[in-house]
Amino acid sequence: EVGGFSDFMSKEIDEQPRSLRDTLAGRVDQEGRISLDELNITQEELKTIQKVVIVGCGTSLHAGMVARYALEHFVRVPVEIDVSSEFRYRDPVLSPTTLVVGVSQSGETLDTMVALSEAKASGAKTLVVSNVVGSSMARMADAVLYTRAGPEISVASTKTFIAQIGALEILALYLADLKRTLYPSEVNELIGRLNAVPEAISVALSQIKEYERVAQRLLGYDRFYFIGRNVGYPVALEGALKLKEITYTPSEGYPAGELKHGPIAMIDEQAVVVAIAPKGALYEKVLANVEEVRARGAKVVLVVNEMPAGHMASDDDVFLVPQVHQLFSPMVDVVPLQVLAHYTSVARGLDPDRPRNLAKTVTVE
Ligand code: M6R
Repeated sequence: EVGGFSDFMSKEIDEQPRSLRDTLAGRVDQEGRISLDELNITQEELKTIQKVVIVGCGTSLHAGMVARYALEHFVRVPVEIDVSSEFRYRDPVLSPTTLVVGVSQSGETLDTMVALSEAKASGAKTLVVSNVVGSSMARMADAVLYTRAGPEISVASTKTFIAQIGALEILALYLADLKRTLYPSEVNELIGRLNAVPEAISVALSQIKEYERVAQRLLGYDRFYFIGRNVGYPVALEGALKLKEITYTPSEGYPAGELKHGPIAMIDEQAVVVAIAPKGALYEKVLANVEEVRARGAKVVLVVNEMPAGHMASDDDVFLVPQVHQLFSPMVDVVPLQVLAHYTSVARGLDPDRPRNLAKTVTVE
């Protein structure tokens, strides 16, 4: 038992509103100007950035994938994203107007560290988002943006995922302000929307018992497929990673539109399809993909902002989550998926904090 919780993972899930609030706090001054932590890149240099490349592993990669949508939408800058261990070996095209962003909770993951140092050596500007003050990557990169999630003990990342997305959203708004791709009033409005997310996460957390009741009904199934579009896609990947990491259940994340290009062949009565469908432009599209898997016998679970009247079958299950700005929705939508993985792990008599074969920090290639 840890501080009233059965394990570190459930404690860290509970700490998520605070983790995000602390990460956002103090980053915006009275005039609405955003400030970053250790920024040894001048504003003039940042204004000339033509391309952003994001690298990371596992959950940190998924946070980077979420940020790509905000950077492209708010800053109108092309964004590439790659797994650190692939980026290193691919002869990437970098220049002094490229900003390479490494995302790493520990700041010690070797693959991400080498990716960043090679990017730096090739003349690109480097920035790291890290949860550990003075970590190797924080010392090496040109700029650091700290998440303030506090120490994360559980091997499965939860509160640092949400904090990483929060920090990267701040970076996107900072660049948008600097490059004037958004009006100051728009930046302010978005900061207000971002500041509302911790409370939305608290509301999601108040539904834990309900999420666990759904998780309990899913215990007998063989395989899980998580699907989403746009920012829902990295949430799908993260939901699948959490579940496989701490429950060893075969689970995959797919862009919902890809189903019919192969994965749908796997769907039968033993498969669960968890669809991330926040309100927004692609809501109906995701629900149309859900129809396709339901017709093939899958057990359907929807992550939605309200009951989708007319789009449900009687044995569908629902994870209700509060609605926030669509680009910020992964920070809320991931919560029931974390709870699903945690509940399943405990129900199967496993230790969610110490999954087999895994280390918290991977400092080898
Ligand atoms: O410390 P880092 O953020 O660089 O670690 C990256 C991954 O090893 C990490 O996110 C891993 O995927 C977690 N166990 C996921 O829960």
